[in-house]
Amino acid sequence: MNDTLVIFYCLGGTSREVAHALADEQGWALGQVVEAKPRGGWPGLLRCALDTLRQRLPPVRYEGPEPAGFQRVVLVAPIWLGSVAAPMRSFAASAGRSWRQYAVVTTSATGESSRAEAELAAILGHEPIGCAAFHTRHVTDGSYAPVLQEFGGLLAGIGYPVARPQALGAIKPAPAG
Ligand SMILES: Cc1cc2nc3c(=O)[nH]c(=O)nc-3n(C[C@H](O)[C@H](O)[C@H](O)COP(=O)(O)O)c2cc1C
Repeated sequence: MNDTLVIFYCLGGTSREVAHALADEQGWALGQVVEAKPRGGWPGLLRCALDTLRQRLPPVRYEGPEPAGFQRVVLVAPIWLGSVAAPMRSFAASAGRSWRQYAVVTTSATGESSRAEAELAAILGHEPIGCAAFHTRHVTDGSYAPVLQEFGGLLAGIGYPVARPQALGAIKPAPAG
């Protein structure tokens, strides 16, 4: 069985960059959650808000290696109105029940993951083994890179199976001055 699969959903480019960097650094496979109906312009943004507020599960498809063949998945997604982006909730709800271990990486304008971990834990039925939350600005200026590397290294060091979830805790870059 393979090791780790990084799966991302991205609207604006930030989460894609984080997911690619993590997969490249650690030599992990990469997959992507893609929406059946792309979110363009103001109507798309409005739909982001409505999907979040109404806790809707928009239709998505997955492009990448079959997750069941991996020991763990790392989900990378943006925060929308304090929640994990709706397409990632859709994907987790449809495909995630068989995941043995998962970790959560979020990107947001505040660097806060808000309800994301709790929402995914409720959908998947167990806690993530690790979480990291990145500020969009720190991804753009590259200052998040050492933290991402540390997070990936910690995840890579966790053996399987884990008797108890081994929380890495939330790792956040120090606020920029
Ligand atoms: C509809 C929408 C809602 C958002 N809500 C929040 C929020 O509640 N808190 C926050 O910090 N950032 C929020 N953001 C900012 C995004 O989380 C942030 O820009 C993220 O890095 C975008 O990731 P992406 O480029 O991978 O799509 C929101 C962005 C959008 C489009």
